[in-house]
Amino acid sequence: MKAQANSYSKRQQQQPETVSDGSQSIVSIEIGKLSPHPLLNSIYLHDPALSLAGSMNSMGQLAPILVERVRDGYQVLSGSRRLQAGLELGWPTLQAVVRTPVDDHQRLWWILESNQQRSKTFSQRMREADLMEVLIKAEARSRSLANLSGGPKLRVFDGSECLNSDTPVTQTYPLQNEPDSDSKIIRSKGPRRSDTQIAKAIGLGGKDLYRQARAVWKASLENDARALSAVKELDNGTKTIFAAFKDLRRRDHLSTDFRPTPYDVWHFKHDRAYGTKYPGSIPASIVANTLHYYTEPGQLVVDPMAGGGTTLDVCLSMNRRCMALDLAPSRPEILTWNVGDRSLPESANDCDLIFLDPPYHSMLRSSYATGSVSDHSLADWKLVIERIFRHCHSALRPGGHLAVLIANQTEKDLPPGWGYVDHAFDILSCLIKIGFLPQRRISCPMDGAYRPDQIQQSRLNRRMLGQVRDLIIVRKSI
Ligand SMILES: C[S@@+](CC[C@H](N)C(=O)[O-])C[C@H]1O[C@@H](n2cnc3c(N)ncnc32)[C@H](O)[C@@H]1O
Repeated sequence: MKAQANSYSKRQQQQPETVSDGSQSIVSIEIGKLSPHPLLNSIYLHDPALSLAGSMNSMGQLAPILVERVRDGYQVLSGSRRLQAGLELGWPTLQAVVRTPVDDHQRLWWILESNQQRSKTFSQRMREADLMEVLIKAEARSRSLANLSGGPKLRVFDGSECLNSDTPVTQTYPLQNEPDSDSKIIRSKGPRRSDTQIAKAIGLGGKDLYRQARAVWKASLENDARALSAVKELDNGTKTIFAAFKDLRRRDHLSTDFRPTPYDVWHFKHDRAYGTKYPGSIPASIVANTLHYYTEPGQLVVDPMAGGGTTLDVCLSMNRRCMALDLAPSRPEILTWNVGDRSLPESANDCDLIFLDPPYHSMLRSSYATGSVSDHSLADWKLVIERIFRHCHSALRPGGHLAVLIANQTEKDLPPGWGYVDHAFDILSCLIKIGFLPQRRISCPMDGAYRPDQIQQSRLNRRMLGQVRDLIIVRKSI
């Protein structure tokens, strides 16, 4: 820290205490007197991964932060990351431009505007948009009140100005307060135009994309697990807004236009509208067809290894009650439960269907939490799976069904000496031994998502790539 503070002072010594850049003065302010405006924390949140400490240590403070004088110091309106980095580096002062105080409403616009250039995640953009919506509505209210009372006129800037347009469109609206003459505040000409303006201001292009983004964002604020997962992907840049919106729209199609397959080969593609992105997640249509054939609306379905919650979402869509458990829940609706160690919860008793999608022995082992059944040796995996089947047998009502999705395993995933394990055969035998009655064995081939090099390798090694997956349906006798 001392070395960092020294590197600061070398660079700071080259700068005078106060510099004039023509229009505004840059001053050195004691870092202890600076605090970020609460809005900066609530919109942009501090992400330690995005710390500027490294670059500020080597390059110095390239641009002044913008502050406003408050009673016992200065509030930072733009530059919270530089402030954070300065604190991390132990710098005694930061260079700042002190802004003339404005009223609360204008200050909020001003904060949004002066943070336009920073790089932002999807969530940060949408939090900005939330605030803009509130401000625009408040202005519209204020305008209509002023219209009634014939209040003073305000020069109002078109939203394009905040995007550095050279020729801002201006209009006059009556408002109570004049803003600063140098203010470039984003203003709405009327509520109908606000989507276009906000879309531009937050850098999302047009109003249609903004409306799609808003639908996803709104669902995530309502704690919709799939929307929350989509927002996480949007923040990481691994999903597009259009794809997230499409998933959101499609997710009720199982309740409106579900067409069950009449065949016993269920070859379905993944459907991101159901379940969150999760290792080993399954196509929603496999669950939907199982519900269609083996349950009635209102009945209770249990998924003891719920993963990303595909069963939960399909049940919701098809009007079945659902209890979801997992060793390591990925969503708040999933209860933490190790079904290898204990019976199902009491509230699962007399359930109508259990849908079980266990790890196929060691496949995807590293993707699951410690304690997963995939951690066991093959012999122990079989013992734990048998114990889980017994727990399922106790919880099911007489006549209720158990559906187990399983893929046979080939040598790649097996201990040395094992060539092939026909899990489907072993599991069906085990279920019959426990007392279940076989109902159906449905082929659910996996998507052939193999890379060309894997295909070539398998030909060279005379080793076929696995595509087989079976859904075994058994019934508890009455
Ligand atoms: C193949 S994934 C399920 C995927 C899920 N069907 C979906 O569509 O997202 C298997 C799940 O079993 C869970 N699991 C493994 N061992 C478990 C145990 N002993 N008790 C509860 N869950 C377990 C893992 O955490 C993992 O989420």
